[in-house]
Amino acid sequence: MKGIILAGGLGTRLRPLTKVTNKHLLPVFNKPMIFYPLETLVNAGIQDIMVVTGGNNAGDFLRLLGNGKDFGLRHLHFAYQEGEGGIAEALSLAENFADNDLLCVMLGDNLIEKSIRLYVERFKKQGCGARIILKEVTDPQRFGVPRLEGDAVVEIEEKPAVPASKYAVTGIYLYDHRVFDIIKTLKPSARGELEITDVNNQYIRWGQMRYDILDGWWTDAGTIESLLRASNLVAEKERSQSQALNPQDWTGESALLFKFFGML
Ligand code: DAU
Repeated sequence: MKGIILAGGLGTRLRPLTKVTNKHLLPVFNKPMIFYPLETLVNAGIQDIMVVTGGNNAGDFLRLLGNGKDFGLRHLHFAYQEGEGGIAEALSLAENFADNDLLCVMLGDNLIEKSIRLYVERFKKQGCGARIILKEVTDPQRFGVPRLEGDAVVEIEEKPAVPASKYAVTGIYLYDHRVFDIIKTLKPSARGELEITDVNNQYIRWGQMRYDILDGWWTDAGTIESLLRASNLVAEKERSQSQALNPQDWTGESALLFKFFGML
């Protein structure tokens, strides 16, 4: 399986933070945003990865990530998106790299708490079609929203005024190679972009879309509020991980339990 991180676009919702740099180079707690999707793919066992980016700061990605050695990779691939033609257009630039393999595509501004390995393994068993990962949210109208009937997704609507469910379609997508044929048939949406939701709806019409519900937190980081939320969630995760490693920092019930077992 190959991994593709989409990190193009203008990041207009983060202006003026993105006036002179790319959104995915901004800090989320203690690391640049792009590190998180990269770590997510590597932790899921994906070694062959392409980053699609664009704009005036594309060279900075090369300087920051190099060949991916800091992430345990031997090589990292890059592609350049001219303009902001949409998520599906950015993905189309990875067609040669994909070479008929199964794909795990992740949006560069999406962060998650836990591993996606389980979903990747399920898609490998599925073998073809597509798989999306849903997460319950309080503000579904900001995202792609699925309409669910029993075990099936029957439609996805992009940023609906009246959401059909309380779920968001997260920016982690699993596709077979036919995704590129679908993208070639797309027309730009009202916002002038080739929409990933239109890609997903084609797989739904073919009856080849499956889904999982994500375990652990998920957030995007494309607005000022969600960027702050992402930093806070990562900070909290780091804190709880370091407390688990340093039990002397434990407080309350867990400290009592530790002392009790320490005395045995
Ligand atoms: O975060 C999940 C949501 O992402 C999904 O629920 C939506 O269905 C999906 O359309 C997308 O919504 P946004 O409107 O939030 O996407 P945005 O335009 O912020 O782009 C998300 C990432 O995609 C961005 O960090 C980089 C990449 N991208 C985006 C565009 C428009 C590109 O690489 N090139 C592009 O031209």
